Amino acid sequence: MCGIVGYAGHRPAVPLVVEELHRLEYRGYDSAGVACVQQGAFRVVKAEGKLNALEMKLSTEPPATATTGMGHTRWATHGAPCERNAHPHLSNSAKLALVHNGIIENYLEIKNELTAKGYVFHSETDTEVLVNLIEDCHKSEPDLMKAFSMALCKAHGAYAICLMSIEEPDVFYAARMSAPLILGVGTGENFVASDIPAFLPYTRRVVFLENGEMARVDKSSFRVCRIADLSPVEHSIETIEWDVQSAQKGGYRHFMLKEIFEQPDILRDSMTGRVSASRDSVRLHELDDFPVPARLTIVACGTSSHAGMWGRHILESMARVPVQVEIASEYRYKERLLFSKDEMVLVISQSGETADTLAALRRARECGAAVIGLCNVVGSSIAREADRVLYTQAGPEISVASTKAMCSQMLVLTLMALYWGARKGTVSGGEIAAVVQDILSLPEMLHKELPGMHEKAKMLSRKYSQAKNFFYLGRGHCYPLALEGALKLKELSYIHAEGYAAGEMKHGPIALVDSVFPAFAICPDDALLPKVKSNIVEVQARQGKVIALTNPGVDLPAEDVWVVPKVNSLMAGFVILPALQLFSYEMADYLGKDVDQPRNLAKSVTVE
Ligand code: AGP
Repeated sequence: MCGIVGYAGHRPAVPLVVEELHRLEYRGYDSAGVACVQQGAFRVVKAEGKLNALEMKLSTEPPATATTGMGHTRWATHGAPCERNAHPHLSNSAKLALVHNGIIENYLEIKNELTAKGYVFHSETDTEVLVNLIEDCHKSEPDLMKAFSMALCKAHGAYAICLMSIEEPDVFYAARMSAPLILGVGTGENFVASDIPAFLPYTRRVVFLENGEMARVDKSSFRVCRIADLSPVEHSIETIEWDVQSAQKGGYRHFMLKEIFEQPDILRDSMTGRVSASRDSVRLHELDDFPVPARLTIVACGTSSHAGMWGRHILESMARVPVQVEIASEYRYKERLLFSKDEMVLVISQSGETADTLAALRRARECGAAVIGLCNVVGSSIAREADRVLYTQAGPEISVASTKAMCSQMLVLTLMALYWGARKGTVSGGEIAAVVQDILSLPEMLHKELPGMHEKAKMLSRKYSQAKNFFYLGRGHCYPLALEGALKLKELSYIHAEGYAAGEMKHGPIALVDSVFPAFAICPDDALLPKVKSNIVEVQARQGKVIALTNPGVDLPAEDVWVVPKVNSLMAGFVILPALQLFSYEMADYLGKDVDQPRNLAKSVTVE
């Protein structure tokens, strides 16, 4: 997620804006830039890489004296992470400058219209299109607030924006739609930022802009109105009690908890631009010029491999594509890799830098397979070396334990299944619309349910905190989720946990069960429920305690029944996954473990 900061006040703006960007670094970025108006023209300084690269460039220039300015740290979504694509972006006349967080879905259409009018573009970004759209509107509407509103009414998508004009060097404009943007209200100075930590040392008084609102801000005042009709909006000024560090976690105890609670928004953001307005077709332009694979091998590590195992069910069910899933560290050393015509490999990696997965990609390509990458980090090694890449758009994942990344991987795998299914004719527009509707209903439901699930996870983790071993059991698409639940408990609380296909218990593992070896049974109300129910009975017959994660109205003979809302069977994973994550999170926190940085682990395993 990009970081935006704007300042209007009495201090030198550029050094203050850079300091604010430093406090947003935890959000992850790959380039940065600042802008202010100096002697009637914009001064824009940008640099690829970290803020120290930007500071090096600034140190070679005469210090700016402006007391109004803005800055940006870019997490690339459109266009490579390089200086040319870094923000701020100037309009063709160089009279407007803009920084932006989010995705303008219809930017290509707007870009074509502006190009036809003679506008030229120097970057691959949707942001540069937006600033020139505002300029184009400003040509017919002299009031910049109105021109800004006109442009935003044409742009569709998610955005948090800061805009400046050389005509008003001591003013900045801000607007938000489905991306956070907060005003900081100081004394003789005002701020805007993507997140509170940026300006917290200067003021604790904030105004939260709501979706569809915009503001005009100078050092002594601000005016908020609705983008759609410029009608004025009154907001109370709130006072923040957090310190900077807890503010970076959005008030959550750990980044992991923050990222678990981001998942509803991740589902919405991962869908952005990928579903038709009629919701009965999926658009994955990255794959348009590729055939639908005759067979697919999914290769990944850890949590990403569990996402791949889950994705296999929906890819085979919806697209009728035969799928096998391989662990990258095994796959890369296979004696021989044989591929038939139109057989493809899909490598899944949040970081895009996992050594085993990257090696597997290279081996598969050497052996003649086309490789698709599913990554979260734009411009990562896997993203650059795959023949095609799809991005999960989950924003940077800070906590070592992967949570929101898996949610977004599962979402994109679902979209791939629908996309390929439509091309093969194995799913109808109506079936696609039904699945899309199920997914679109998840964010609101999860926003409502997650707090209660968190409380249940807290209670159960305390009750089972003495356990030294745990089984996680599931069948069908819940088997990969059982593996993921076990991995989360292991890597966070250091309790030994094994994920098992529930039907496998009778083939040996059940010998381990006793009164201190509990099981976590994943048993949504679907066709396999009766089978999992019998596995629960088998465990209990050996004095094993069972936590059964199920849906309303299901009667289970378990020690603890954890009821979560029922959704369409294959989409149930989007509700089950956060429950498993929250249980492990609370167990680790209760046992006093280092939740965001578990022992022995790295966020990206770039070595063999
Ligand atoms: C997940 O909680 C783990 N930290 C780990 O298994 C991780 O999923 C694995 O290392 C793969 O990472 P990647 O997705 O960045 O390739």
